[in-house]
Amino acid sequence: MALIDQLKETASYIQQQCNTVPLIGIVLGSGLGSFVNEIKVEKEISYSDIPNFPVSTVEGHSGKLIFGELGGKNVVAMAGRFHFYEGYTPAQVAFPIRVMKQLGVETVLISNAAGGVNSKFVVGDLMIIKDHISLFTLNPLLGKNEEELGPRFPDMSEPYSVELITKAKAIAEKLEITVRTGVYTGVTGPTFETRSEYKLIQTLGGDAVGMSTVQEVIAAVHSGMKVFAMSVITDIGIREEDNVITHEEVLQAAKDAEPKLTSIFIELIKEL
Ligand code: HPA
Repeated sequence: MALIDQLKETASYIQQQCNTVPLIGIVLGSGLGSFVNEIKVEKEISYSDIPNFPVSTVEGHSGKLIFGELGGKNVVAMAGRFHFYEGYTPAQVAFPIRVMKQLGVETVLISNAAGGVNSKFVVGDLMIIKDHISLFTLNPLLGKNEEELGPRFPDMSEPYSVELITKAKAIAEKLEITVRTGVYTGVTGPTFETRSEYKLIQTLGGDAVGMSTVQEVIAAVHSGMKVFAMSVITDIGIREEDNVITHEEVLQAAKDAEPKLTSIFIELIKEL
């Protein structure tokens, strides 16, 4: 089945379950999932029940789409995202984003946990993503392009909405939350970087590095949606003495910074 037909089938299944049109899609990073508690839930649909959705590689971790209201807006949030390192194809990683577009979503808000590559950063910093570098991550648009989904050669001069970045900075200032702005470097993982790789990424102009987001953002831009994305800096891999990183440390740092990120996302949603 052509991708567009799969997407239409998936969207029509979801619309039978839930008839409000979400205008905002939310994707949450590792350790940042309790954001969904802010949503006044109308309907939850398990990924395993949704036709054409990627099948989870981890048993009991299938995830769900949550539909509801937040900050006076109809939203859909992914509780659980798909990563390339789990064995999903780039197109599978991008599939839920494309479904969001079919459902009527106009703006996607994305969060992630990321390693600090800018030596001024400290653990717990929030970084608004102003641009990205895809470093060895495969492009989700590889293969035949279906014109109905977007152009063959999408412009990527401004993947992250400058208007939303400006709004988020003003919100952070009002809330007295310090935010950084920087370039997110997307890698495949699942290994964290070697010392030499962190240095390479710094030399290339990256401020942070992580294993998600880039493929989702490309799919969102391809389909004409606006994107805002923010990283929580969970470790400072660029500092040699801090280069031993564990997943537990990443999750804990994300969890600690989550309330700051949540309050910025909520205020931003109100202003959309
Ligand atoms: N590298 C890649 N991904 C990450 C890191 C990191 O240092 N921290 C959190 N996600």
